[in-house]
Amino acid sequence: MSNAITFTKRVGSFAKGFASDPFTHWPFPVISRRVYGNLAGFRQNLFGSIDTTIHRLLGLFHKNPPCDAGTRKLAADLRKYGLAKANGWIEPATIATIRTRLVAAAETAGSNPSEYMTILEAHAFAEHAPEVFDIFNARVNGFLEHYFGGPFLVNSGAFRFTRHVPEHVLQEREVYSDRWHSDSGPTSMLAIFVLLNDLGPDGGPTSAINISATKDVVRQGYTSRKESGHLTAQIENDPTRVEMTGPAGTIMFVNVARCLHRAGIPTEGNHREWLQFRLFPCRDGTDTTRLRAAKILKYTNRIDQDY
Ligand SMILES: [Fe+2]
Repeated sequence: MSNAITFTKRVGSFAKGFASDPFTHWPFPVISRRVYGNLAGFRQNLFGSIDTTIHRLLGLFHKNPPCDAGTRKLAADLRKYGLAKANGWIEPATIATIRTRLVAAAETAGSNPSEYMTILEAHAFAEHAPEVFDIFNARVNGFLEHYFGGPFLVNSGAFRFTRHVPEHVLQEREVYSDRWHSDSGPTSMLAIFVLLNDLGPDGGPTSAINISATKDVVRQGYTSRKESGHLTAQIENDPTRVEMTGPAGTIMFVNVARCLHRAGIPTEGNHREWLQFRLFPCRDGTDTTRLRAAKILKYTNRIDQDY
């Protein structure tokens, strides 16, 4: 009798959940992993690809800024592989100013989710470190417009100061997205990461593998960051893996919904200072001096932004 009640309760709760948000329930996550080959979610892939296509079509009427052949090739590679890295696009003096301001602002207006990380969310940038938006110079924006095929907006971001985490803590739990995952955002979204300190392998660089390698491992059965079997080892050793090392000012562009990625852990005595932004294609012109709402999030993640 109690088994029958439990079964009925389970069916009831499944039906309720399915009715309120069918795409997050079986069979959609399974279909999504098979068809799209990532962990972002069905809605994020379907609506994300529509968003990407619409803006690229509209972009045919948009005059992209002039760009050299090398930059155009990098933008084409980013579309194809979901990953790109660039050096020397931002003046060292600009990076130095931003770094000083952000480290100071993080002390006063930042938060510490744990002793291993300090964060300053992008909503505090305008007040505490408006220079941050200077990373979007003509070269960076030109490249990004070629990638999106038209104008884009800056939706969110953060400054993060990440420190060493002892091994026994890492065994117990994930501390700051240090296990392989893809973000649950629309696939039209692009993340950019900017290093603010010089970083070698000891500094805990972010790593990512490309779109086709991600499809491969997800279709083989990698389903979540909780896994630790042979597929995790396969990702670790994937030949497409890119690590975000380099001098301060190095930029890494990642389609974080379509590419598996993870944060690295700095070795003892090392740390990492970095900025990240989430960008989306848009229709009404590129304005990288402030944060703007991304309407697609209402349909993919039920987030209704009003700024
Ligand atoms: Fe992530």
